[in-house]
Amino acid sequence: MEILDGKACAAALEAKIASQVAEMTAKGERAPHLTAILVGDNGASKTYVAAKEKACARVGFRSTVLRLPESTTQDELLQQVARLNADPEVDGFIIQLPLPKHINEQAVINAVSPGKDVDGFHPVNVGRLMLGEDTFVSATPLGIMLLLDHYGIDTRGKHCVVLGRSNIVGRPVANLLSQKSNPGDCTVTICHSRTPDISAMTRQADIIIAAIGIPEFLKADMVKNGAVVVDVGITRVPDENSPKGYRIVGDVDYAAVAPKCSWITPVPGGVGPMTICALMNNTLKAKL
Ligand code: GUN
Repeated sequence: MEILDGKACAAALEAKIASQVAEMTAKGERAPHLTAILVGDNGASKTYVAAKEKACARVGFRSTVLRLPESTTQDELLQQVARLNADPEVDGFIIQLPLPKHINEQAVINAVSPGKDVDGFHPVNVGRLMLGEDTFVSATPLGIMLLLDHYGIDTRGKHCVVLGRSNIVGRPVANLLSQKSNPGDCTVTICHSRTPDISAMTRQADIIIAAIGIPEFLKADMVKNGAVVVDVGITRVPDENSPKGYRIVGDVDYAAVAPKCSWITPVPGGVGPMTICALMNNTLKAKL
């Protein structure tokens, strides 16, 4: 069994981005600039935005965080989106999700200029992805593709089972892996809460992408020998022994599943760092 080391892969890709930024600034161009809008006080969202800011600093990007109160109205948020769309100094921006319940997330996403939508959530970018056109691919699916590519995983002709059908992970990654490309060229099955016998599917899989959001869902008897397993899960589970009071648990029962795999991502240190790295990739692309 070998590790798909997202931390090491992200560091290597970030070093490449940093050298491109250094070349840019040496020529007198300004560095790429990413803005994140953070509405309210969600602990996980604050952690993610802080991680994105740190990554920007590592690669030499400018980063700004626009912190808005929980009470922000949809109209006020839309005004900020319009302002960022028009700001020539901002190459790309993201609206950290989830938004407070009184705000319609899709209405806000739809207002982002597709050329600045480095999260790849705008319908135009989702549509372009579906068509196999060059676009901003959302961070988690892109991070998974970059990780498979970095380790030279041959996906062509393989059966890939994706657990989960979310708009930000399951469906886009299933789409990418089915495309005529490498990584890609897979036969893809998407499983979800209404799939009658998920084990029967995963046992046939050469590649499993677990993005179902249930801690340790994928057990050893659900995986065939030699499978490649990518764990997208990041559930916070209360843990008195951890200084933070919780630990991060993936969707895979790692200890039992890992010995059966040819390759597997750890949690943490697998898909997580790749997601941040993919956002850096998209921000550089937005500047170019
Ligand atoms: N919340 C969870 N994942 C993401 C992401 O990739 N982008 C944004 N904006 N919010 C998120």
